[in-house]
Amino acid sequence: MACITPLRASVLLTVVRADGAPAAAMSLAAEEFHTDTGGAHYRDGAIDLVAGSMGGVASVLVGQPLDTVKVKMQAFPEVHTNLLGCFRTTFAGDGLRGLYAGTVPALAANVAENSVLFCAYGFCQKLVARVTRTPDVAELSVIGNATAGFVAAFFSSFTLCPTELVKCRLQAMRETHGRLDVGPFGLTKRILRAEGVPGLFRGLTATMAREMPGYFFFFGGYEATRALLTPAGLTKDEIGAARTIVAGGVGGIMLWVAIFPADVVKSRIQVEGSREPMLRVMRTILQKEGVLALYNGLGPTLLRTFPATGVLFLAYELTKKSLHSLFG
Ligand SMILES: *[C@@H]1O[C@H](CO)[C@@H](O)[C@H](O)[C@H]1NC(C)=O
Repeated sequence: MACITPLRASVLLTVVRADGAPAAAMSLAAEEFHTDTGGAHYRDGAIDLVAGSMGGVASVLVGQPLDTVKVKMQAFPEVHTNLLGCFRTTFAGDGLRGLYAGTVPALAANVAENSVLFCAYGFCQKLVARVTRTPDVAELSVIGNATAGFVAAFFSSFTLCPTELVKCRLQAMRETHGRLDVGPFGLTKRILRAEGVPGLFRGLTATMAREMPGYFFFFGGYEATRALLTPAGLTKDEIGAARTIVAGGVGGIMLWVAIFPADVVKSRIQVEGSREPMLRVMRTILQKEGVLALYNGLGPTLLRTFPATGVLFLAYELTKKSLHSLFG
């Protein structure tokens, strides 16, 4: 941490007086513009961006085959009765290409989302440290880190919303028409032509309502598990790959258990292109279909999330570590 300049002192005062995160964020951003520590923050941000992208790539490489299997089992339950069998028939029939169908758009979506998410997470950790007057982000509490995740998800929602919307519409089309006459990029173009940019941001509020609490538990669950798995005498960065994967997996599971009902509602809104408020849609589902409808499909989601989020955090931590030792 650099010394306290008069400017920094005035910024601290602003933060103390301001009672909203946005005001604090703005004064933090304004300060970085004027001090010599600005360069270091930009470097940290760039490293988080690259590390988050690597995390996104790793999670797709691990998660995509499981996703393919999940979709097949959901679409043809009488043909594919168990996971391993479905995995084997797909691999025997179409090889790796079959298992990795739809990887390119999934990669694009995951890299876009995770680069923004982890970059914002790093920034928000600094912000939370500043607001709570913690001298270093390494000393943030689990709740502090979870709060940083909560705020970071506000920003990543802007990249997640359009990609999820396109993905949900494609999946729904496959279900209702049996066959697709358009790919992800074609559909994006079609939506833009018909509805303009707002068409891609249908369900943004619902996405935020889902993502922000979700990432509170995601980062909170990850950091808390990492701390639990750290043996005495070691630091959290020395716990090795297996424990990092487990901590990441727990974070992923906590995210999904927390947000699943909101996810179901969001998918309905996006598939139907509805403008009804979230709570009303949720109430309608509850009245007509019962509570269980809000947890439809949770099992396969958890199965996919554990390994995918595990390697996401592993790739993120490894990339971050090596880039910091290269440029730090
Ligand atoms: C919060 O995050 C920072 C940076 O990622 C980490 O060094 C710290 O140990 C975390 N705090 C807890 C309690 O997990």
